Amino acid sequence: MTGESLQRVVVVGSGVAGLQTALVLRRLAPRCAVVLTTKTSLAESNTRWAQGGIAAVVPDAAAGVEAATDGPRDSVDAHIADTLAAGAGLSDPEAAAVLCGEAAQGIAALQAAGVVFDTSPADPGVPARGREAAHSAARVLHLGGDATGAGLVAALTAAVRRDPGIEVLEDTLVTRVLLDGDGPALGGDGPALGVRRRATGVEVLSGGVARDLPADAVVLATGGAGQLFESTTNPRIATGDGVALAWRAGAAVADLEFFQFHPTSLDVPGNPLISEAVRGEGARLIDADGHPFMAGYHPDGDLAPRDVVSRSIAQHLAGGRTGRAAGDGDRGGPGAQDGRRRPAVYLDATGLGRDFLARRFPTLTALTARHGLDWSSTPVPVVPAAHYWMGGVRTDTAGRTSVPGLLAVGEVARTGVHGANRLASNSLLEGVVFGARCAEALAAGGGEAPSFDVDHLDLEAEETGTQSFTRADLQSVLSDHAGVLRTGAGLELARKHLASYRPDTDADPELANLLLCARLLVHAASRRTASVGAHQRLDQPDSPPQAPAPSRSYARTPEGT
Ligand code: SIN
Repeated sequence: MTGESLQRVVVVGSGVAGLQTALVLRRLAPRCAVVLTTKTSLAESNTRWAQGGIAAVVPDAAAGVEAATDGPRDSVDAHIADTLAAGAGLSDPEAAAVLCGEAAQGIAALQAAGVVFDTSPADPGVPARGREAAHSAARVLHLGGDATGAGLVAALTAAVRRDPGIEVLEDTLVTRVLLDGDGPALGGDGPALGVRRRATGVEVLSGGVARDLPADAVVLATGGAGQLFESTTNPRIATGDGVALAWRAGAAVADLEFFQFHPTSLDVPGNPLISEAVRGEGARLIDADGHPFMAGYHPDGDLAPRDVVSRSIAQHLAGGRTGRAAGDGDRGGPGAQDGRRRPAVYLDATGLGRDFLARRFPTLTALTARHGLDWSSTPVPVVPAAHYWMGGVRTDTAGRTSVPGLLAVGEVARTGVHGANRLASNSLLEGVVFGARCAEALAAGGGEAPSFDVDHLDLEAEETGTQSFTRADLQSVLSDHAGVLRTGAGLELARKHLASYRPDTDADPELANLLLCARLLVHAASRRTASVGAHQRLDQPDSPPQAPAPSRSYARTPEGT
């Protein structure tokens, strides 16, 4: 395939990665039609809920230099170093250099697409830069204070809607990646063994009707799988569809044991996110006794890497600290009704002042108020919640998977940039930078699909379970045994539970996708016996001093072997 011969590309998913891929591809290959599918509406995605911002070292418009407005002088090298340090020794330095090195270009492209970032209250020529955990400088750009994702989605979806060359298919679920050799038209005997099959489009389900969408290439931009767990900051649509589709198509996946739990979701039903930017501005985690405990766990205290903070909270709570749940006592609510006290930690933002909180974090001020909480005067209860999957479909830095014609970008992809733990606010950036690179690669003809060393797994052969199950059943298994703290015995229990379930792909394709992702996650977690980053084994608490075991890739056992 050459860039000129590219006629139609299907992009699956409408978060920042999918939107960016579609827009850049149309700019570089204007004769190529893009079909953008989303299983709900164009505006709904994980991106929409992102608050803190997008990490990038950008020149000041006024000074024309890479410099932070406050705090230490910043540089792309510092951003790379922070990304690698947060990744706990398992990030790919080449991918990190690409991500951070192309950040300024990505921000400029967003601005050209109509995104207007907040500027410094002191100087409108200078972008406002927030601080977040494990960043050595304030470098997180934001919009609307704490509504960065919603702002990006609004600007990029408007640009997509304006482009007649992008066909948007809403309420359309992709159920299969089509491969050459599929079906009678392309030869009933199927492809020769050892020949890598090429993606030729997707099968979709819309309004109960299935149909095929042929394409020269398919880009998965389906986001994450927070719905694997009971407590998650992700919306209900985050069901790991892309990993499941890619796995069934034979693509390699990697790092699936690394699932990031955000330390501060509000401890109310739905677990809405409270941005790390709040701690970046000076808020602190305290326990039920009012004690700021993080300094006892890590020298960077409240601004330690995210995996460390979530783990510390879990350990602190396991140590028996108790508190009142949201809505307890004088606030009224379920906890108050039976007088139960349960472990809790709190985010204390009271020192930041009412006016500052309302101006810098308007979304969160409204959110907490909706739950009857005044966070300017009272600490609010928080709990770690599943937030971001570092693992995913293995790709190179142009989004190419091991299946020719199948690409993946954003959270669904595993470029290696995040290693065992993602640095805060590198996720929107990932969608912008790797979305553009994926589009560039397609416009240039696609290039060779990379080959990765993989362990083959025959999960289908193990699918002998007969028990029907619900999303809540699956979430309970993973939350109990594969959450922030894990043990080998717990993972084995999870494996047995999951093996007893019978997936029904026709009746509930998303639940079948979740089950496949859960089984892959548990398998990968069982194989990694030492603790590193977001994978913490209580039975192996101390990581050995040597480098962590390298990351492993898996792929399904090819048919006919
Ligand atoms: C946050 O605002 O804390 C979330 C941002 C991220 O996950 O990078």
